[in-house]
Amino acid sequence: MTSNALMNTYGQRALSLVKGEGAHVWDDQGKQYLDALAGIAVCGLGHAHPAVTAAITAQASTLVHCSNLYNIPAQEALADKLSALSGMSNMFFSNSGAEANEAAIKIARLHGHAQGIELPTIIVAEQAFHGRTLATLSATGNRKVHAGFEPLVRGFSRAPFDDIDAIRAIGENNPNIVAVFVEPIQGEGGINIPAPDYLQQLRSLCDDKGWLLMLDEIQTANGRTGTFFHYQQHNILPDVVTIAKGLGNGMPIGACLSHGPAAQLMQPGNHGSTFGGNPIACAAALATLETIERENLAQRASDLGTHLLKAFSAALADCDKVKDIRGSGLMIGIELSEPCAELVASAAAQGLLINVTAANVIRLLPPLIFSDQQADQLVDILVSLIKAF
Ligand SMILES: Cc1ncc(COP(=O)(O)O)c(C=O)c1O
Repeated sequence: MTSNALMNTYGQRALSLVKGEGAHVWDDQGKQYLDALAGIAVCGLGHAHPAVTAAITAQASTLVHCSNLYNIPAQEALADKLSALSGMSNMFFSNSGAEANEAAIKIARLHGHAQGIELPTIIVAEQAFHGRTLATLSATGNRKVHAGFEPLVRGFSRAPFDDIDAIRAIGENNPNIVAVFVEPIQGEGGINIPAPDYLQQLRSLCDDKGWLLMLDEIQTANGRTGTFFHYQQHNILPDVVTIAKGLGNGMPIGACLSHGPAAQLMQPGNHGSTFGGNPIACAAALATLETIERENLAQRASDLGTHLLKAFSAALADCDKVKDIRGSGLMIGIELSEPCAELVASAAAQGLLINVTAANVIRLLPPLIFSDQQADQLVDILVSLIKAF
């Protein structure tokens, strides 16, 4: 089934997915696929998870919407849960990752203006991806995302990723810097993992300079990289962290979490959203977090990720098309020596959903509930496709 009534933002799409259960989805022809992408890091609990379905159903039959003019009990319960999981103190709920990042950017600007800085400027990274709204695409470090949408929003200064000296140098020359905003691991940019001390170095630099450390954990959080938030592996606390994707296991919800002085900057009237923090999205997110915690799925992501990295490295050791295999938990990249977008269609033909990003990086983001047997099936299919490519 194809409709001409959609705006052409996603190009031609090959599959119509109509049903999902656990780590599998089915198309409109009844064909089954093993889903190693989870809606791009969204359905961490797999599809149609009973706990999330029950939470959505119960909330939908009680109260679907309620304005943020009123207290929303599900939103408050979710905020308390996230606060306990993250160590952050105050949060704002949005409908998407880009909107969570908009809130973060606004907090950084408030932080600058509070110090009399008229052109508050945020350091962002090359190859970063922060979203498609005007401010977040301006923060994004990819020319293709900017093209056609100029003029870009001002107030961003770009440094190479994983280069603390470059950030220090920008700070020496620009008195308007108020924050550093990076992904702890770049997702769309190609699963780029920085040096192990990068986040700690950023934390101390931001402390020295009075800048906010803001992390975009939209792809890395919700258990995906082996801890609930990735920063928890580096013993630091950011001032601001944004999450979305896996938070609602498919219900549209994001959050901007803040801590310390950054948490005091937003005041009534500064920011808001009609749907952000909606009762159904919050009920689904709360059920998602409780399930990740109860079933210890962050640890599962860590263990299975280690197993998958070993299995791919062993099976592809003598394959000269493979430049690198890297990952953290269930966020895995296999970098080939040449562009490989066609692999997406060849994998789908074999009943496997994967993604290719940054032209030549096969990106795997399977659900955290992937079984050992499903992991082995993923390795078998993908290794043979790469070898034949
Ligand atoms: C790191 C990161 N930030 C922000 C976004 C934007 O999120 P959304 O598409 O929900 O607006 C994404 C989406 O891929 C992302 O990976």
